Amino acid sequence: MVSRKKSFQTLRGMKDILAKDWLYYDWILSNAKKIFEHYGFQRIETPILEKAELFTKGIGKNTDIANKEMYVLKTKENKELLALRPEGTASVVRAYIERGMSNLPQPVKLYHFGPFFRHERPQAGRYRQFYQLGVEMIGDESYAADAEIIVASRLFLENLGFKKKDICLLLNSIGCSECRPTYIKELKKYYRKYNKQICADCRRRIKENPLRVLDCKSEKCSSIKKGAPTALDYLCSECRNHFKSLLELLDYLNIPYILDKTLVRGLDYYTRTVFEFSLGDGTNKIALAGGGRYDKLVEILGGTHKPAAGVAFGIERLIKELVGKGKNFIVPKPNVYLVQIGDLARRQSFKLLEQFRKENIFLGESLGKESLKAQLSTADRLGVNYVLILGQQEVLDGMIILKDMSSGIQELIPLEKIIGEVKKRLKKQKK
Ligand code: HAM
Repeated sequence: MVSRKKSFQTLRGMKDILAKDWLYYDWILSNAKKIFEHYGFQRIETPILEKAELFTKGIGKNTDIANKEMYVLKTKENKELLALRPEGTASVVRAYIERGMSNLPQPVKLYHFGPFFRHERPQAGRYRQFYQLGVEMIGDESYAADAEIIVASRLFLENLGFKKKDICLLLNSIGCSECRPTYIKELKKYYRKYNKQICADCRRRIKENPLRVLDCKSEKCSSIKKGAPTALDYLCSECRNHFKSLLELLDYLNIPYILDKTLVRGLDYYTRTVFEFSLGDGTNKIALAGGGRYDKLVEILGGTHKPAAGVAFGIERLIKELVGKGKNFIVPKPNVYLVQIGDLARRQSFKLLEQFRKENIFLGESLGKESLKAQLSTADRLGVNYVLILGQQEVLDGMIILKDMSSGIQELIPLEKIIGEVKKRLKKQKK
């Protein structure tokens, strides 16, 4: 009987990031560094595993993210519930409190880049493991902080190559703990009239997390949603002033935005300003980034009152758009390949390769292979322009063969001159 070997695959909604993909991630991160460090943000990385409670408390236990989508696990020894981080803000705030950052000059400006996990239904632009670039400014209450994050975010998107006119900013204010309860009461009152017409999800949302009814995409609810009261009409004077000042500053800075009165975001920690960036005219539901103000989160997680604001970009979504725009990277490959025949030559090749590396010349090699044919075939598949061949006789003579792959011409070069010779040829080729 033939035994069938088991092979493994990545989990649904997760993927391997290969060399050609990393070029995009690295490039986006290097652009992020350039922009956000220029705006005074410093890098932080928090662990991927945290106590699950950090997120249920921080994001809100009735949010989809904490309630349905979190990967939760139990440790063997102490039966503690841990979670793979579904987002970065709660973790950064935990670090801010734990590391005593409230004693530093405020605001503390941090950015982070790494993988996040949400057990969502995989679909276009929605993965179960995805990367985010998060940017957080903690300890600043002013509308100017919101504006700074928005301005830097736009600049970052422009720097990645998105056209100014294509970048769409949706903006709303959802008030604070003073004014939001009155709004929620009115929203619930309004939806009670339509209890039988709305979808089952909205019936649940209105009980558990009323603001989220405004996020409903079902056709059934869309006309009802249109007539719903909006948070903007219920803002207290402080929240109204905050939002008005932000809009005025954005107008002054010529930053276009669309007021989206139904934008509420899926995390409970938001207060006042919420926003999303997408491409197009505002009807594109795939957000490249989302953010807002979270004035109470530091307190909720055990710190003192420190108002804050931030944003996070979805890296896979950015990459998809960049690829769509034709942004292309090529995985670096060697132009020169070293072939060795025999033990003596192999030993010498180790030394020679190190010398080339010190000179920053990337040589292809397969020191594990012995046959000349196999090595030449690899060199051929890599499409290199030059092959260096080192055999027993060449080592004894202190020479090496340099073969030009396009002309087929072979020359014997003294070993001590080979680096200079290769440098010369590569330079000529670049011209
Ligand atoms: P979020 O809107 O949940 O906000 O996520 C931010 C961005 O991450 C989204 O706009 C999207 O581009 C990307 N994203 C979210 N979920 C997925 C997924 N399943 N697959 C692919 N990409 C995804 C936050 O996470 C907040 N922490 C943002 C923030 C920072 N607010 C204040 N500071």
